[in-house]
Amino acid sequence: MKGNILSVDTSASPQTDPPQRPWLPLSTPTRSKPACIFTVLCYNVLCEKYATRQMYGYCPTWALDWQYRRKAIMSELKLYAADIICLQEVEMDQFYNFFLPELQPEGYHGIYAPKSRAKTMNESERKYVDGCAIFFRTAKFKLIKEHLMEFNQLAMLNSEGSDDMLNRVMTKDNIGLAALLEVREAAWDNGVPTETPPLLVCTAHIHWDPEFCDVKLVQTMMLMHELRLIAEEAEAAFNGTHPNERVHLLLCGDLNSLPDSGVVEFLQTSRVSAKHVDFKDLVYKSSLQRISYSSTSERTTEYTHPFRLASAYSNDVMPFTNYTFDFRGIIDYIFFSRPSMNVLGLLGPMEPNWLTENKVVGAPHPSIPSDHFPLLVELEVAVPSPNGTNETRSAGSTLPPHRR
Ligand SMILES: *[C@@H]1O[C@H](CO)[C@@H](O)[C@H](O)[C@H]1NC(C)=O
Ligand SMILES: *[C@@H]1O[C@H](CO)[C@@H](O)[C@H](O)[C@H]1NC(C)=O
Ligand SMILES: *[C@@H]1O[C@H](CO)[C@@H](O)[C@H](O)[C@H]1NC(C)=O
Ligand SMILES: *[C@@H]1O[C@H](CO)[C@@H](O)[C@H](O)[C@H]1NC(C)=O
Ligand SMILES: *[C@@H]1O[C@H](CO)[C@@H](O)[C@H](O)[C@H]1NC(C)=O
Repeated sequence: MKGNILSVDTSASPQTDPPQRPWLPLSTPTRSKPACIFTVLCYNVLCEKYATRQMYGYCPTWALDWQYRRKAIMSELKLYAADIICLQEVEMDQFYNFFLPELQPEGYHGIYAPKSRAKTMNESERKYVDGCAIFFRTAKFKLIKEHLMEFNQLAMLNSEGSDDMLNRVMTKDNIGLAALLEVREAAWDNGVPTETPPLLVCTAHIHWDPEFCDVKLVQTMMLMHELRLIAEEAEAAFNGTHPNERVHLLLCGDLNSLPDSGVVEFLQTSRVSAKHVDFKDLVYKSSLQRISYSSTSERTTEYTHPFRLASAYSNDVMPFTNYTFDFRGIIDYIFFSRPSMNVLGLLGPMEPNWLTENKVVGAPHPSIPSDHFPLLVELEVAVPSPNGTNETRSAGSTLPPHRR
């Protein structure tokens, strides 16, 4: 795959094609013990409903058209041919009648969930509700179980009477979707380990509005709480001979949160202060204690999650993942469990000179089919030695290397 990553098909574009995004190798695979190497792509495809002229006036109408964009998006997906594909903003009808039928012959199986509002709609309206999709290559992975996380439902269940939980969080219908995947024997190199923990793949699309940074953080906390429950259930079923082997987590999504946000701090450091500015002094306390991993006391000063995660793209690799006229920033992420997983390489940014030379003020653009760029990472899961890697289950016992 490395070295032959091409640009999208721009035959209809009057401009020169953008140069290929470069593949950036970061480390070499383990050769001495069983390892599973796979690629993951994360992409907000910008659904038809949100791709309006008012929002994207700088993009020619024909290039904003969904029929045109979806073709370019699909050729990107087929070109990058990731083993796992996480998409956001996929409309329900487009999942069943376009993405799934296009990707199944390529060797994928896919799961999908629309945002919660779909429940209250009739069939004709429901088709246009967007949601999250996960595709995986069936030669490497097998679906054990899927989980839908509806943040409005979770807010209700955990509200503990908090008005802010009910009025601010419960009113947003964002979702997360997770797939617990068995890693097939064929996916291993250097021998097949006797027992392998499953891979938990999750994608989420967090609320967009900057006014609601508290909601973004609470949604993310609820997401991590649910993932913990899923992982614990899977580990109980797995309880193999290697007590240190745990479910490997892969969390991909459009978090609508910048690298200096509470959301990213919480994911990356496994903790966030109960006084974090993103909570806006609102009254969430008892509901958040319920979903925090390690704190239940009245004196709670921080909330935690039990995973140890690192972001595959460090902040200096891609200056932006969302590229529009009035906003450019990093809001899409691929997080992975460390140290059991390791980044071997990733897809670099689009050539900045090409953007300036072609006066590309924002995306979509005839050569860029969404207002986000896809992230693509090659990861390795290495099986720990029988003695383990001296990992503990306590949250944040060591700070991740990416801490700012
Ligand atoms: C579905 O609901 C919308 C809005 O309430 C309505 O305009 C439309 O006629 C309904 N369609 C059907 C098939 O019931
Ligand atoms: C898992 O644990 C249960 C009870 O704790 C035990 O009965 C079962 O044999 C274990 N399974 C494996 C594969 O060790
Ligand atoms: C990208 O950023 C712009 C500006 O904040 C925002 O309006 C747009 O919704 C974002 N795109 C997506 C799909 O999140
Ligand atoms: C693993 O543990 C066994 C027994 O506890 C010990 O003999 C062996 O040296 C250990 N191996 C490593 C690599 O630490
Ligand atoms: C694991 O690491 C901790 C802290 O670094 C250390 O105290 C402990 O002895 C280690 N345990 C093993 C089994 O190596």
